Amino acid sequence: MGEVAARDDIAEMVKRVIDMRSDTVTKPTEAMRAAMASAEVDDDVLGYDPTARRLETEMAKIMGKEAALFVPSGTMGNLVSVLVHCDVRGSEVILGDNSHIHIYENGGISTIGGVHPKTVKNNKDGTMDLDLIEAAIRDPKGELFYPTTRLICLENSHANCGGRCLSVEYTDKVGELAKKHGLKLHIDGARIFNAAMALGVPVDRLVQAADSVSVCLSKGLGAPVGTVIVGSRSFINKAKTLRKTLGGGMRQIGILCAAALVAVQENVKKLEDDHKQAKQLAGGLNQIVGLRVDIDSVETNIVYVDVCKNSNTTALKLCEYLEERGILVMAGNAYRIRLVMHHQISSTDVQYTLSCIQEAVAEAISSEHAGKSQAIN
Ligand SMILES: Cc1ncc(COP(=O)(O)O)c(C=O)c1O
Repeated sequence: MGEVAARDDIAEMVKRVIDMRSDTVTKPTEAMRAAMASAEVDDDVLGYDPTARRLETEMAKIMGKEAALFVPSGTMGNLVSVLVHCDVRGSEVILGDNSHIHIYENGGISTIGGVHPKTVKNNKDGTMDLDLIEAAIRDPKGELFYPTTRLICLENSHANCGGRCLSVEYTDKVGELAKKHGLKLHIDGARIFNAAMALGVPVDRLVQAADSVSVCLSKGLGAPVGTVIVGSRSFINKAKTLRKTLGGGMRQIGILCAAALVAVQENVKKLEDDHKQAKQLAGGLNQIVGLRVDIDSVETNIVYVDVCKNSNTTALKLCEYLEERGILVMAGNAYRIRLVMHHQISSTDVQYTLSCIQEAVAEAISSEHAGKSQAIN
């Protein structure tokens, strides 16, 4: 922590809230607001919004797929994609037990789509073992009893696993497995650009094996709203109908797509800085007595830090301490905090955060020692 500048000096420099709760918290940049103000728009439900078309064409090209569709959220992107692939009742999808679709999307694939989830254990790196995926595929001979496996879902980067990246080789292997069994492959690519950047591979190559990808524009890329799903033209045609069914057909969405275009054009390259800052933060946190970070697992913009049980503090107490000092982070559980980097977090913000956390933990530990020596006296 020697390089960490004196807290008071940095506090002087930090005049605003430092929001590390998620990469969804970014505010539109001036360029985005200007693009929104001057966006050419029309009715997108009728298919005439020129800015939406421009974004969809651009995203299809970047992702190496035939077509794309703007949807309001990542949740709707995943839901529509799963429902297009599983359009027969009694379909089953294989997905990670720690995946966003399974945990955080209200079970929408079941409650709305009648799709049965078959979970496979997510390893710490976000993968599922190939042999476990294969074993989870239902034997078509048992069709009298079993649901029918139709889809495999991956998540890249894997949020709950700390933003870990699935490699091209792994994704290709899952794609081959899917093909061998006549299944489709969907990638929840809410942070696929983070993964591509961290792996150093073109994003279209990374998702080559996938039949569909849901790409969030409102996470690390910083657009205020929106996700784009990509896939074949026939997939997107069906997705458009489902989007309307779910109430996601919106009219003059060029306003939103204009900001998203700026995000794609200007912010992809900034992800590299987010990843560097996440590593810097992780390294600093790991040097603080009473905290622990699995440094090797920090591959992109998400940092999970464990609060040691003997540090006399908890995740919640630390969150409160930081909030009083203008820093917002999220408690994952009683002893785990999540901090997420994005383009509106500066290196100074990281330094200030580190010094506040160091101070909080040091105070907690010393108050415990003081309490013990008082008890002895
Ligand atoms: C991996 C992943 N997938 C999907 C989503 C859903 O996105 P949204 O919040 O836009 O519905 C999120 C949101 O945080 C996510 O982290």
